[in-house]
Amino acid sequence: VCTETDVPGSNDVSPVHEGDVLFASDEVSFHGQVVFAVAATSQHLAEVAVKKAIFTYEIQPVQLSAAAAMAAEDFVLPTRTFQMGSPEVAMNEATRQVQGALHIRGQEHFYLEGQIALVSPAEDDGVAVLVSSQHPSEVQKLVASTLGIPLNRVTVSVRRMGGAFGGKETQAAPLACIAALFARRTGRTVKYRMPRQQDMIQTGKRHDFENEYRLGFDDQGVVQAAELTLAARCGYSADLSDSIVDRAMFHADNAYCLQNAQITGYRCRTNTVSNTAFRGFGGPQGMLTIEAAMDHVASTLNIDPVDVRLRNLYRPGNDETPYGQKVTDFRLGRMIDQLIEQSHYRQRRQNIAEFNASQSYLRRGLALTPVKFGISFTATHLNQAGALVQIYTDGSVLINHGGTEMGQGLFQKLTQVAARSLGAQQAVIRASATDTSKVPNTSATAASSGADLNGMAVQAACDTLIGRLKDHVAQQYAVKPDEITFAEGQITAPGLSLTWQEVIASAYEARISLSATGFYKTPEIAWDRITGAGRPFLYFAYGAAVTEVVIDTLTGENRILRCDILHDCGASLNPALDIGQIEGGFVQGAGWLTTEELVWDAAGHLKTHAPSTYKIPACSDRPDVFNVDLWPGQNTQKTVYRSKAVGEPPFMHGISAFLALSNAVAACGPQYPDLQAPAISEEVFSAIARARGSAL
Ligand code: MTE
Ligand code: MOS
Repeated sequence: VCTETDVPGSNDVSPVHEGDVLFASDEVSFHGQVVFAVAATSQHLAEVAVKKAIFTYEIQPVQLSAAAAMAAEDFVLPTRTFQMGSPEVAMNEATRQVQGALHIRGQEHFYLEGQIALVSPAEDDGVAVLVSSQHPSEVQKLVASTLGIPLNRVTVSVRRMGGAFGGKETQAAPLACIAALFARRTGRTVKYRMPRQQDMIQTGKRHDFENEYRLGFDDQGVVQAAELTLAARCGYSADLSDSIVDRAMFHADNAYCLQNAQITGYRCRTNTVSNTAFRGFGGPQGMLTIEAAMDHVASTLNIDPVDVRLRNLYRPGNDETPYGQKVTDFRLGRMIDQLIEQSHYRQRRQNIAEFNASQSYLRRGLALTPVKFGISFTATHLNQAGALVQIYTDGSVLINHGGTEMGQGLFQKLTQVAARSLGAQQAVIRASATDTSKVPNTSATAASSGADLNGMAVQAACDTLIGRLKDHVAQQYAVKPDEITFAEGQITAPGLSLTWQEVIASAYEARISLSATGFYKTPEIAWDRITGAGRPFLYFAYGAAVTEVVIDTLTGENRILRCDILHDCGASLNPALDIGQIEGGFVQGAGWLTTEELVWDAAGHLKTHAPSTYKIPACSDRPDVFNVDLWPGQNTQKTVYRSKAVGEPPFMHGISAFLALSNAVAACGPQYPDLQAPAISEEVFSAIARARGSAL
């Protein structure tokens, strides 16, 4: 048995701030918090032993909602505000105003492979860790601090994860730390695998937000002032909540120039599991709020919501975000125009009106929503990556880098980058497992930046090697270095043609070093969280989605019928993978807002801790018609082969499914439907009653 008193080093496993603990000791902060751990020779025996524990609790009052924490002014971290212009004055001067509130619920990651770690004792009192984590360097750091040993005695290796979605950025480390405690004590290899129900109860989720908006606008729907308050349920500790609420604030404008704005983000303390990263990292909760508000504006003016959106888009002259960064690339307007065309939005809008007028019980709805998502870690120092590229004497190449593979296809993309940079055939390149003993001090594979950062680091290492190889070939065969080309495994120069294998063999003979490291740090970005000034993002990823749904007004049941997405991946590194990310992102985002509901009881017990009660989308929930297209433009910034990050941005296309449901509900009655997320059947049903102004 291990408890807090058995930890030789530190019991604190916080990623950034303090207060995330490995084992609770005097006080248990939420239902499901870990107090002790048992190791046994089988999972069954460990479970039997755990159940023998007897606790004596003194029950304290619990604070479960962001609203309760707001009332008590109880926050895990300081509140922050972005301000642009004079929102108060502009609000009073605006001819029209709307206000509303949205309770946006959290989300369980539901990665197919649950949390798992395996730790073996190693030389010099060290440990070797295999773990399903997006952040091997942080696992290394926390295992070392738990055991009270230096970082160079801990090796962490991640081959691949069976899905992560942000849920393995910080949440994987405690398993490795606990397994390491037992490995150290017993001298044996220890595996810790969480059963699904425990995983759902004990690990953090997407933050719930209780948000409020107030917009001032003119008769055309052009916004003149915005006041947005975002209150996140962080749980008992900080975890990554500071950056997550920041990102919600950074995306509360989405694609729109708000002219005068005040955006405030609260980090609410609650007696619930500490919420964590989840695809979009707070961005979706900020974005949904402004998108719902745009619909609200359109509904008061009786204008098609897409026209209100188009009138408010960032454009030259109207290009300043509430945090001071200027938008410089205005492709989104052109993308929306094209999507309206190719999805036949206007015609379908009319068809839907006719359908709704002709039907007794069914109502259809349609919504187009854009996405503008900032790419870079907003904690500037994290925007760095390293790589190690090794060429063996037979010409085969092993690339190592700081990124981790979780199904997003990063290793495939980086293999392509290496092949292209070396002018070698893809078949000779292999990516190793991510390993802290090969590339040190890495950032998490997160913020969609895996390919951007590690791709550039791999390219830098390859460039060094190509430089050496060219010098060697030039010398050996008396040709000029700048006349030599490496392409598809053929090395050519005037009067010279060699294979990759021949060049490598001869370089080895000539004692040329065939391994190199590469390093990259994102240029031009700088963000000061305290003053709220700078340029947090290198660029924005863009996209837009049109979704059509149908609801049954007798039951609230609903279906997504069709979805058309146009998304900007810059010059795509791999269109098949990128389209996969877009499809998966949309489905996961739509699931969050339409079927997935987390329910806690009044004592703070999670009641939905299994697939029987927590409904993620099934294959049959995907749209019958699903058209995904890539925008052909390249990145205006000098990213790896001018590509753009794709991991998170498409998640927010799911907002179009939610607002299409809202649009269908609006067709039921005169009142603004005020649909809340998730729009499960019960919620759609009661929103219909609200739209009609009738009792349920
Ligand atoms: N795709 C798959 N298949 N599985 C995942 O776990 N995680 C998402 C996204 N796409 C995820 C995924 C999240 S949260 C992020 S931040 C990015 O992938 C991380 O990978 P990247 O930076 O290489 O895009
Ligand atoms: Mo993704 S939420 O940044 O791991």
